[in-house]
This record gives sequence, structure tokens and C-alpha cells, in this order.
Amino acid sequence: DHIDWDAEAAEKGGYDTYMLKEIFEQPSALTNTLIGRLNDSTGEVNLDIDLDPKSFKRISIIACGTAYYAGLVGEYMIEQLARIPVEVDVASEYRYRSPLVSEDTLAIVVSQSGETIDTLEALREAKKYGAKTLGVINAKGSSMTRELDDTLYIHAGPEIGVASTKAYTSMASAFLLLALWLGRARGTLSEQQGAELLHAARELPRLVEEALSPERVARIKEVAEKYAHSRDYLFLGRGVNAPTALEGALKLKEISYIHAEGYAAGEMKHGPIALIDANLPVVVVATESFLLEKTISNVQEVRARSGKVIALLSDGDTENAQHADDVLYVPRSHEMVSPIVNVVALQLLSYFTATALGKDVDKPRNLAKSVTVE
Ligand code: G6P
Repeated sequence: DHIDWDAEAAEKGGYDTYMLKEIFEQPSALTNTLIGRLNDSTGEVNLDIDLDPKSFKRISIIACGTAYYAGLVGEYMIEQLARIPVEVDVASEYRYRSPLVSEDTLAIVVSQSGETIDTLEALREAKKYGAKTLGVINAKGSSMTRELDDTLYIHAGPEIGVASTKAYTSMASAFLLLALWLGRARGTLSEQQGAELLHAARELPRLVEEALSPERVARIKEVAEKYAHSRDYLFLGRGVNAPTALEGALKLKEISYIHAEGYAAGEMKHGPIALIDANLPVVVVATESFLLEKTISNVQEVRARSGKVIALLSDGDTENAQHADDVLYVPRSHEMVSPIVNVVALQLLSYFTATALGKDVDKPRNLAKSVTVE
């Protein structure tokens, strides 16, 4: 009725949908994830975690959906910065594959709701075999937090839109904090590297704010509308941005119902290349990276087969713009944090595709915000 409608409109804070509101809340969500946890003068990371960072020989990251993709970003960060072997599993597989777990395993479960049944059961499985457990969780006091040894809250604030946005970027940032914390304690991070990454983390809210500038948003909307009637979409990325491609594809299929696949760009030639024709938009995350040249050669392979290239390029990269049909410029960021900045453009691309097609983005068909039955 009228009163409910007003209340809901007020909750959306002037935005048309919760999803859009939550996309725009990312700078403040990231501030809340990071606040009080980084000490500029000492370079220390204070996470208030009782677990001993030197006591693990391996890490298992376990999650579902978008949280799983945040876990893949986490794997990259932890292995690079703390040099500990990490494996990442979808919870529904982990819980049934008799994983190899021992007392020197740290199991990290990642969940916005803290209620997803597969993740909760996987956590119980890991505990049963003696793993230490840590959660990267948004919802305070949720079921998982009551069973975990320790919880690193992401503090992203309530997320209502079914398609996860701000929880993803806050989870990925929490993994950066964890990687720094582990790397410092284990002596795998040089002072300079540590200081550089601390600075990169600090910059995140500002960079994401910049990624949400009106000009960029308008440009993304224009590109989304241009390709909204495509039947399929391919997303490619490499290195720490391979998960960005996967998450971009997931967002698009969840809310626009366009079939989308995400791939590590180097793997394209082993299958998805067969799909490329003039009707296939291919989104390529091609921001500054030690792998950029390789990514651009993947772009050229797409182009050679008349695929339509939508390239995410770092601000100022006019040279590589010639290889793309459409360019979305994103703010330059340290490569290790770039997934957090880059994904924002893909969230908006899927958002404007769905709205161009008249879909209800806050309540996509067949999906639930939190899946508490198997
Ligand atoms: C559902 C939601 C997804 C979410 C996944 C995991 O499928 O629709 O958006 O990523 O569950 O949820 P969690 O609360 O555990 O992060």
C-alpha cells in the first residue's frame, strides 16, 4: 500500500533499486571494511584475529556464488603476498569430496549472509577434520559466525539486492587485509611492498568513487544499451582479474538472463573461441598489468574472428583503444587491488543491460538472496 511504498522508496535512498544504491555505496562500504585496520606509521594490519598467522601450512577458501569469486581473488592475493598454498572450492563440492584437512589447515569461509547452507555444512566438515576456521562474513551474529573460530567482518552494511555488489568488493578488500596480515607475520613481504599495498588499500574508496563518476556511468549505460539484445556474452580476464571476468559474467546472467561465460583469457583458444562471431560481445579486462600484452593478443584473436570487443582499459591507455570496438576507461590502480576497482564497471554494465531489457534487477527470477536449503 501507499505507506509501504513510501518506506521502500526511502530505504532506496533516492535510487530506483537496491542494487544501484548498493553499487554506489561501495566507497563507504570499502571505507568501513578498511577503517581502523591499517596502521600507516607502523605498516601493521590489525585484524583482531586470535589465530596465529604463522601456524598454517595451507589455506582452503570455501564459498558459493559471488563469494566464491571473491575467494578466487583472495587466493591470488594470499599466494602472492604470503606464499602459502591456497585452494578454493565451491562449498557444495567441498562438503562431499572428503577434502584433505589437518590441524595446520586454515579453512576460510566467505559469505555475505553467513547463512548459506552449503557453506555452513562445508565449515562443519572442515572443523570435523581439525582445521582452524576463519570467516569473511558480512551479517553480524549469523549462523556461521557462531561456529567459526574467528570472524573478519567485512562491515559492508546490509545488502538487499539479490545480485551481490558491495559485499563482493568488501570481501576482496578483506582478503587484501588478510594477505597483508599473513605476509607481514610470515616475513614474505618486503617493507616497500607492504607500504605500497597499504597505500593502494587506502586509495580504494577514492578510486571506486572515481569509477562511479557520472561520465563513466553514462558511458557504461550507452555501451550496455548498444549490446543489450545480444544472445550471449563472453568475459575475459587474466591473473588477479581472471575472477573479475567470472564475476562480470555471473552478474550479467543473474539479472539480465543473457547467457554469459567468464574465462581466463589465455584459455579462450581451448574452446570458447569457437563461439566467436560478429554477434558476440566480448568484454575484456585489459587494465594495466604485467600480463597486458598477452591480454591484448587475446583481444586481437577475438577481433580477427569479427567478435565485438568491449575493453576495460586503464585511464590514458589510448594505444590499446584501437583494438576495441568500445572502450570503458577505468581508474588506474595497483594491480593487486584492481579487481576491486574494475568490477564496478561490470556491475554497472549488467545493471544497465538488465534495465534496458525491462528486468526486475532486485528480484531476479529463480534466485534467492540467501540459499538456506540444499
Ligand atoms: C545466493 C545469492 C548470491 C550469493 C550466494 C552466496 O546464490 O543469490 O548472490 O553470492 O548465494 O551467498 P552468501 O550469503 O553465502 O555470500
